[in-house]
Amino acid sequence: SITPVILCGGSGTRLWPLSRKSFPKQFVPLIGDKSLLQLTLERVGALGERVVCVAADDHRFLVADMLQRAKREGTIVLEPVARNTAAAMALAALQAKPEDFLLFCPADHHIPDAAAFQRTMREGLTAAANGMIVTFGVVPSFPSTAYGYIRQGELRPDGSLQVAQFIEKPEAARAQQLLLQGDALWNAGIFLAQARFLLEALGEHAPDILASCRAAMAAAKSEQPGKAAPGVTFVRPDRAAFEACRSQSIDYAVMERHAFVAVIPFRGQWSDVGSWNAVADLAPADAQDNRVQGQGWTRNARNTFIHAPHRPVVALGTHDLLIIDTPDAVLVAQRDAAEQVKDVVAMLEQGN
Ligand code: GDD
Ligand code: MG
Repeated sequence: SITPVILCGGSGTRLWPLSRKSFPKQFVPLIGDKSLLQLTLERVGALGERVVCVAADDHRFLVADMLQRAKREGTIVLEPVARNTAAAMALAALQAKPEDFLLFCPADHHIPDAAAFQRTMREGLTAAANGMIVTFGVVPSFPSTAYGYIRQGELRPDGSLQVAQFIEKPEAARAQQLLLQGDALWNAGIFLAQARFLLEALGEHAPDILASCRAAMAAAKSEQPGKAAPGVTFVRPDRAAFEACRSQSIDYAVMERHAFVAVIPFRGQWSDVGSWNAVADLAPADAQDNRVQGQGWTRNARNTFIHAPHRPVVALGTHDLLIIDTPDAVLVAQRDAAEQVKDVVAMLEQGN
């Protein structure tokens, strides 16, 4: 069986002002009245009994609460500081049994067809048993520079495809070229591997990260919060050891370099709910491409998105706009400026 491992340590700054440091986007009810983390837990539900979440220590009760709502039991590995996905995945692999099949899933993706998702994940089991790290590929629709690209190689006997090349977040020109070549898929950011093979790969390509994580887990402390979070175990890696760990994503640390990476195409709808444009695109559009969530109203507007869960927000004659209303902050942005939100958050944090 599979052990789903949900990575929920991201800060989601591009979804400010809805996503905050103390309450990042994966915990925010964004689709219907459910958070992306809750939807992720529901989606992986049929794949494995117990779930592992890797999250920031500050968010332990938010994660525990989501587990409870999804009626799941499991382990929450609590990071004292964020050290990116290579370290987060190493921690999860170190607390697992070597033969466990770990399915690493981002907490913040929108994948509505759970049945197709589960089927595709199970297709990767044979390749994973053969020592491969299995990635899942999505057909690219534009030359994004925010994703990893996977060039497909030979068909393997286990039904997966060899990864000929893995290119994390290429420059625009390279992304364009990859799209034209026609053999590249977007990396969905979901990985399936047996714990021992992932640890081997980390040992080969990022031995320092693995060593820090080993030290942190060797001195880890477990705690059962009991009534506060029934069925949940908190695991706290040692702070000093983990603080010393290098911060790098698994894509740069391992996927770009490892020889034993396979890919399975995923054909269902997939969205990395990374920016307000992506959130907007999930809402139904009217004839003029306006989209609203909550109490938004548009008139003579075009391509305007309003997120207004708390009070009426009206847009008249606007076009190509994002309007995000929250109780204590408002964002108004041109659609094509959505990526700049994270820079503003960095500025606000510095107190400018
Ligand atoms: N626990 C923990 N700790 N989780 C983390 C940390 C961390 O330090 N950093 C990131 N995460 C979580 C995020 O919350 C997210 O769910 C997931 O790991 C991926 O991190 P992102 O920061 O969102 O990565 P990305 O979107 O830039 O790139 C990755 O995903 C793309 C698809 O969405 C890469 O794998 C790309 O190749 C891929 O195309
Ligand atoms: Mg992401």
